Amino acid sequence: MTTRETAAQRTTPEDITAAVTASFAGAADARLREVMQALVRHLHAFATEVRLTEEEWRAAIATLTATGEITDAHRQEFILWSDALGLSMLVDAMANLRPPGATESTVLGPFYVPGAPRREYGESIAAEPAGTPAWVHGHVRDLDGDPIAGAELDVWQNGADRLYAVQKPEGPEDHLRGRFRSRDDGSYAFLAVRPVPYPIPDDGPVGHMLATTGRHPWRPAHIHMIVRAEGYRTVTTHVFDAASEYLDSDAVFAVKPSLLREIVPRGADDPERPNGVDGEWASLECDFVLVAGDDAAEVSDPGRTA
Ligand code: BEZ
Ligand code: FE
Repeated sequence: MTTRETAAQRTTPEDITAAVTASFAGAADARLREVMQALVRHLHAFATEVRLTEEEWRAAIATLTATGEITDAHRQEFILWSDALGLSMLVDAMANLRPPGATESTVLGPFYVPGAPRREYGESIAAEPAGTPAWVHGHVRDLDGDPIAGAELDVWQNGADRLYAVQKPEGPEDHLRGRFRSRDDGSYAFLAVRPVPYPIPDDGPVGHMLATTGRHPWRPAHIHMIVRAEGYRTVTTHVFDAASEYLDSDAVFAVKPSLLREIVPRGADDPERPNGVDGEWASLECDFVLVAGDDAAEVSDPGRTA
């Protein structure tokens, strides 16, 4: 074909998609080639399907720019996009298929900070009053129901003020977090506080998207855990308050029915009241079931939102 003939032809959207896809044909890394070509196909199909206008394209670029500008060492707005669009849970679902009976995983979230203090069985994770005390207890077991001794439960949660310790740099660093070990019979226990629903950070581009699309930023009440044990696959999960608001509309789509547990209100005169608790309290029983495997690796958080 001559240059004149080429110039005379109309270039269609399909031609553009084909040219861009073909531009990756020589990528030496086969996986990179597959991902880039599929990305282009789907991105172009999306723009074609919605007939993306130039004005909308500019708005999208402005949103990505604002996302970069608000992101720093403490705040990761890109991950928040991934969470709010359900991508984090989709990737988690594909990476963490487990057999029936095993504790299911869910999103890590931006408020995990590695290196929480190691604490003794039954110890409180609250460095200062933070809400209704909640006695959290249960066993760590394998799929046969046998106890796993020495499993580590890395726990973090928000207080009644809705905030995690990392959101309050002026407060005690080790507030509402800790690492516990299961005992020989697999049992564990710690004193937490009754978790409350809270909004994901909504003062940036993700919050703007939620507001303009009529979505709310709330997450149902939950406590985060990472459970690790030698010879077992690490599970990053939550325990949700089965009576919480927003279970059916979690802003980050992280609720799984198997992770709901009843939080039982208890009176001040309840004979099982834990040491150090005055007044009303609550209890929450939750067992964790691990799958044999060998990836007891540390979770690494590529950035967090404070
Ligand atoms: C959290 O549960 O800590 C969380 C998860 C995703 C986005 C924001 C917060
Ligand atoms: Fe959370």
